[in-house]
Amino acid sequence: VKINGKDVRALWFSNGTLKIIDQTKLPKRFKVYECKKYRAVARAIRGMVVRGGPAIGAAAAYGMAMGAERPKRTSSALRNTRPTARDLFYAVSYMEEAIEEGKNPVEAADRYVEALIDRCKRIGVNGLEVLGPHSKIMTHCNAGSLATVDYGTALSPIRLAHSKGLEPFVWVSETRPRLQGMLTAWELGQEGISHQIIVDGASGDLMRRGEVDLVLVGADRITSGGDVVNKVGTYEKAVLAHENGVPFYVAAPKSTFDPETERGDDVPIEERDEKEVLFVGKRRVAPKGSRARNPCFDVTPARYVSGVITEDGITQ
Ligand code: MRU
Repeated sequence: VKINGKDVRALWFSNGTLKIIDQTKLPKRFKVYECKKYRAVARAIRGMVVRGGPAIGAAAAYGMAMGAERPKRTSSALRNTRPTARDLFYAVSYMEEAIEEGKNPVEAADRYVEALIDRCKRIGVNGLEVLGPHSKIMTHCNAGSLATVDYGTALSPIRLAHSKGLEPFVWVSETRPRLQGMLTAWELGQEGISHQIIVDGASGDLMRRGEVDLVLVGADRITSGGDVVNKVGTYEKAVLAHENGVPFYVAAPKSTFDPETERGDDVPIEERDEKEVLFVGKRRVAPKGSRARNPCFDVTPARYVSGVITEDGITQ
């Protein structure tokens, strides 16, 4: 991600410490969160200091490197942080194997992250195919550098289109309750990419009015049957895109694909604290006594997906 014109990654490892851009503080404040032990990495993932499937996988890879002398204990702590994103489990398994084979754990984690960044870069190149000049793209949540260490998934082709002078425009849905849309707006703003923030409920009517050329989102897990599990609210966008004849694309690296699970309904969907819904910041907005339900992700059935943009091309 560009910060004041300088390229900065969402996380990096130096001198035995994992440094993470604290996403709970953005866009208001830029702060770096430091993890010196694998347990701190697990806490950072659970508390969403680092978030987005590929980025939590990358953090977990370094967490495994930090706890490499006791890999079983470390992997179970990291696996127990968030249940939905496939990349987390993929990264932990990758590191378990590397440690078992006697590889240097920090070097293995570095390799994992460099490969991930390269995949995201290639997603950008492949995704350019679905973008024309002046495309109006709607996205949801944050599938940018912050969610993937660098480039992003959904934002990677948009970034490339911008650098080629294609002048993309992005509708950014705010993504209640944790407002990851503000992270997307922040990233786009840093790069000078034209965008406007909308409330989640505005998506459908903008599509109906012909103000959206395509929807482009990331994914937390894609099943072998092609169902897409992503931030809650993605399903609505997919159905409304279908209804309005708007193409609905998903961008994700192969590490997000789960070959062992066929149906989206078999993916564990994280439910977070109801306070995230009942409060806005520190202020309770819900009436006393009302309770909330807070599922974090939803399932978009494969039939609504026009294509999945991966590092190897566009599938479906
Ligand atoms: O709860 P979050 O913010 O970790 O959810 C993230 C998403 O849903 C992203 O869209 C997904 O991880 C893809 S990011 C490349």
